[in-house]
Order: sequence, then C-alpha cells, then structure tokens
Amino acid sequence: MCIISHNMNNDNCKKMTAISLFSSAGIGDLSLNSSGFDVLVANELISERAEIFSCNFPETLSLVGDIWEQENKIIAETKRLLAGRTLDVLFATPPCQGMSKNGRGKLLNSIRKGDKPIHDERNRLIIPCMNIAVELKPRFFVMENVPELENTVIIKKGNPENVIFILDYVAERLGSEYKGVWEVVEFADYGVPQRRQRLITVFSWDVFVNEYMQKFKTVLPERTHAKIPNNGKLPWLTVRGSIAGLPPLDAGSQVTCKDKNNPFHQVPLLDKDKYFWVSNTPPEKGAFDNQCINPICLCKENPIHSAAHNEEGINRASQETPLYCIDCGEILPRPWVKNGADIRLMKGFTSAYKRMNWDLPSSTLTRNLSYACSDNKLHPDQHRVLSLYEAMLLHTITDFNYKWKRTDGKRVSDKLIREAIGESIPPRGLKAIFKHLMRLAQHDYEVMAERHSTCEQLSLM
Ligand SMILES: C[S@@+](CC[C@H](N)C(=O)[O-])C[C@H]1O[C@@H](n2cnc3c(N)ncnc32)[C@H](O)[C@@H]1O
Repeated sequence: MCIISHNMNNDNCKKMTAISLFSSAGIGDLSLNSSGFDVLVANELISERAEIFSCNFPETLSLVGDIWEQENKIIAETKRLLAGRTLDVLFATPPCQGMSKNGRGKLLNSIRKGDKPIHDERNRLIIPCMNIAVELKPRFFVMENVPELENTVIIKKGNPENVIFILDYVAERLGSEYKGVWEVVEFADYGVPQRRQRLITVFSWDVFVNEYMQKFKTVLPERTHAKIPNNGKLPWLTVRGSIAGLPPLDAGSQVTCKDKNNPFHQVPLLDKDKYFWVSNTPPEKGAFDNQCINPICLCKENPIHSAAHNEEGINRASQETPLYCIDCGEILPRPWVKNGADIRLMKGFTSAYKRMNWDLPSSTLTRNLSYACSDNKLHPDQHRVLSLYEAMLLHTITDFNYKWKRTDGKRVSDKLIREAIGESIPPRGLKAIFKHLMRLAQHDYEVMAERHSTCEQLSLM
C-alpha cells in the first residue's frame, strides 16, 4: 500500500516521513520503518552503533556525531530530502542515564536551594533536539525515555537557577500550536514477552490528532494484553511462550554452553562458585534464598534474604541473612565473597542471581543481561543466564529481518548487542504505537470511532 503524506506538494506517491535522533543501532527504527514511515535522516554519536544502523537501513542518511555539532546538518539534510513535504515524525530517544528518580517538587526545590549538585549534562541533549524540532515542525514529536524523565530538570542557559522540567521545556519550545500528552507505557501490555516501562511523549500540531488527544486523553493505541486480562484483552505473553523448546544450555562447561547450530544461542561460563549457587537455585527463586543441601540435614528453615528502607529512605539489603545452615552449620549455596579463610554473604539484593519465571514476561533486559548477578537474569530452570538469541526473541527483534552486522558484513560483538538491546525498547510494542499514529496522521475517522465505542462500552465517556 502506498501511504500519501498530507501537505504533499508533488504528485509522487511517497511514504510518510520521519527522522530519528539518538538512533543507536536502529532497533526503534524497525518499528517506524515497518509501520510505513520513511526514515530520511538518523543521528547517533557512537560510530559502531551507527554502522549497525546503516547496515539495516542503507537508504537512510546516517549522520554520525554529537547532536550539538550535527544539529544544523540534520536540519539542512532533512529539509533537502523532504523537498517541500511535511515531516510527519521526529522520533527522539535521548539517553536516560542522567534521569532522576526523585519526585518533581522535591527535586526542583533542592536544586533551587542549592542542595542538589548541577545535574547530568546528558539531560541537556534535549536542547539541540528541540532546536531541530522547532526548525522542522514535525506533525508528531515523539519521545521515548524512562519514566523518570517526568521528574528531570535541566538548566536552560548557563545560570543554575534557570531550571525547567524537560517536559515543560519541550512544550515551551514547540509553542502553543502544539498539544501534547505523555504516559508511562508497560510494553508487556502491547504483546511483548518482557516487562519494560517507558514514558512515551507525543506532541502534535495536527487538528485531527489534537481532537483525538482532547477526547481520549491519549494518542496511543489501546493496550492489547494485560496481567489480569479483562475487556477482551489477552493475557501477557510469557517467557515460556517465547523461548521454551530451544536447545538446552548449561553454563558449567565449554561443551554444554553453546548450540553449534546457532551462534547467538550460547552463554558465558559460570565459575565454580557461581555455578554452585545457580545450580542449587530452584525455579522462581533466587540464590540468596537457597536452603541447605547437606543430604543428612536438608533444612528448609534458613531465613531468606530481605531488604528494608533505612531512616534516610534508602533501600538496604539485610545483613542478618545467614550463610551457614542454622541447623547443621554447613555452608549454604548462597552468593558469598572470600577474603582468605573468611567467607561472608555477598552484599546484594534478592533480585541478584534470581531466576525468571516461566509463566510471566521476562524481567527488563538490560545491557547486563549476561551477568548472573544482575537483577532477575537467570534462565527459569537451566543453570545459566539467557543467550543473546533468547534476548532477541524476548525483545521481539526476531519479528523483523534485522542483521547484527557492520557495514563490512562482519558480525558485531556480543557487548554491542547487549548494549543495543539494553538501551532500546521492544520494537513490536513501538510498532503498535507508530501504526496508530500513522492512522491518526491519515485522519482515519474509523480510529476515532473505534476508540469512542470502546470508551462507551467501558462507560469511560
Ligand atoms: C536510549 S539510546 C537510543 C536507542 C535507540 N533509539 C534504539 O532504538 O536502539 C540513546 C543513544 O543516544 C546516543 N547519544 C548520546 N549522546 C549523544 C549525542 N551527544 N549526540 C548524538 N547521540 C548521542 C547514545 O550513544 C545512544 O546510542
């Protein structure tokens, strides 16, 4: 099907247009591209990530380098490639490492009082991003980030007192022509077999979109899945449904840790101690809660690990959790550190060395997905972490024809794959969002009627 962009000046049938800022290896762009948007220009700082992007999207002009320096070129090249057409989507996914977890009011107060140090420079990347948006006036400004973005402020111009919340800054820069909404999306609710929460922000000048926004207080499609399904929704997809049936692996030996038929289905070896803890961890449990394995004791009453908030509100792991069986005194297969002859329980939370649950979506896949000590990263019942192939399935990259290659055709490193997965959102979920935005951009009255009838059925109007 050929989708025609509104405001098109020429007679050629062209797809709707988009640009992608902070594009990394282009996992988000899989959703844009497969929803029918033509990604004209992309910008990414790190060249090895941009190489994967170019390998997958050879038709997109990839501008590599710091957005502060590339800003003018991004604007000029986009205008050239648009050749008079409207830019339909500006998709921005700035880095999230500098975002705060504190509440909005508390944070703003502490910065104004000078209690909080000057914040992370990376948060100011929104400034060149908005310079580009103001120049290109996209129909949709779409930003994806961690929920903490809502509480994050930036210094506008040099003066530390001149702070503003990022979302207020976005609204201010876009001006009154644009209306916007933002909401936290759980991507498992869009049929992704992985828990991942992200803040999706959408601003638009399009009157049809604004009417929809005003009526339904959202521009996102209805959620299709739910933890407890109701109103026609489907149950969350699970780890079992996605990765059960793959050849089993075991991180105990060089022979068992790889599938010779699939170079992505292999896992790092666990050293002797880690393998001991992990291989004694039952399904749905974490190694910090392992019980006695002395065959003549097998005590199951050893206190499990816990955590609590201290007076300053900081979550601390318990220091009382035993490492030796309270019944027979044998060492428990719980994570430990050795200092000479002294062995003590490792500092860490119960979520470390913990198994995923077969019958739930996986935990959020981070760049640490191959580390057993990271939160909820163990396979549901095999003695290992997930393979990269399993991560690709749970991240829904396997829905698409995506190549983990550089432009010279060589496969990229495992580290780069983990980083690209960990910093992106599952493209199946994002595709549902872009397909919906595409219908809104086409002024599809059915999309309005469908939402209306669901709201009426649920008596929400
Ligand atoms: C959250 S990731 C983007 C994920 C990406 N959209 C995807 O779908 O995979 C943020 C990206 O911004 C890039 N970045 C950080 N600072 C930048 C800068 N100054 N200019 C351009 N890109 C930058 C990072 O290298 C990283 O790849």
